[in-house]
Amino acid sequence: MPAPADATRPATDMAELLPSLPLETRCPPLPLRRYNGFWLPESVLTELPAIHARLEPRPSDVFLASFPKSGTTWLKALAFATAHRATHPPSDAGHPLRRMNPHECVQFMEMDPELRRDTGSLLEEFEQLASPRVLATHLPYCLLPESITTGEGAAASRVVYVCRNPKDAFISGLFFVKKVSSAYGAGASAGARAFNLEEAFELFCEGRVFAGPQWRHVLQYWEASMRRPKQVLFLEYERMLRDPEATVKKLAEFMGCGFSKEEEEGGVVDEIVKLCSLKELKNMEVNRSGGNQAGVRNDAYFRKGSSGDWRNHLTPELARRLDKIVEEALQGSGFAFVDDANM
Ligand code: A3P
Repeated sequence: MPAPADATRPATDMAELLPSLPLETRCPPLPLRRYNGFWLPESVLTELPAIHARLEPRPSDVFLASFPKSGTTWLKALAFATAHRATHPPSDAGHPLRRMNPHECVQFMEMDPELRRDTGSLLEEFEQLASPRVLATHLPYCLLPESITTGEGAAASRVVYVCRNPKDAFISGLFFVKKVSSAYGAGASAGARAFNLEEAFELFCEGRVFAGPQWRHVLQYWEASMRRPKQVLFLEYERMLRDPEATVKKLAEFMGCGFSKEEEEGGVVDEIVKLCSLKELKNMEVNRSGGNQAGVRNDAYFRKGSSGDWRNHLTPELARRLDKIVEEALQGSGFAFVDDANM
């Protein structure tokens, strides 16, 4: 008997449950189902029970979590470069980030729906990774395996979340979907090509987007960071842009690999910031011409990388509408988004 749609833990037979979950096909590129209050691709939900049952977190693991289009690629690059700086100094001409897209260096723990690989082999691949492992996820906090959300201190793994202003995350997502939809071909949701700002905005406001509602995704991680500050680090994309050096130091401390005085004086922090900057990554050959097996080009992950770009695309009326929805949803929580105007 499958668990009801709003159960906290994934039903063991998700394939059986899936057809009974609310369906959204208007949001490209993939059909979404609502589970536990969040809209997720069917492919992600299908593999959830296997991830819960088989992923064995190590205390040294770091899970990078985000709502899509919130700075995931940047966070992956920064965390990877920071965690592996002893084996791969950021100044190395052959650094993995100079040969591979950040999404190849740090993989999503839920199988990347773009790459329809077998979940079992992906989990086996994770087991082979040397510690400290850095993995990523777009799953909401409530759907993370309990082995990640419980435990304290050195014996438990850590989560780093990056949050972004919803209006910028929305605009970033709109451009991304336009760029990648053609790669999905027949697997794409109906109307993928005809997706326009107004339609996309309605869906975003209703939370009917990958891992939406965005503000609920953010709020769960923020609350977790308040409850478990040693295990969950909450970062904001806008503050990262303002002070990337401070972000890298904070990240390193949190991951248990703080910079020594010699490293700081030797410019290692600056080298990591530079290596992972939008300008640097965007211009690397692998990110200009490469792509994944599903045909999504690496350059789709790098656009403007600024705060407040929504002003160039949303009318003041649409912006106010989204602000109001978010404000109401966050009321009484103690959390508020930052943007370029209120920093
Ligand atoms: P924009 O579309 O607003 O430019 P994600 O990585 O979660 O998919 O988020 C993508 C957003 O992060 C895009 O925002 C992209 O340009 C920006 N981004 C990618 N790499 C970055 C980097 N190294 N530094 C800052 N922003 C970056």
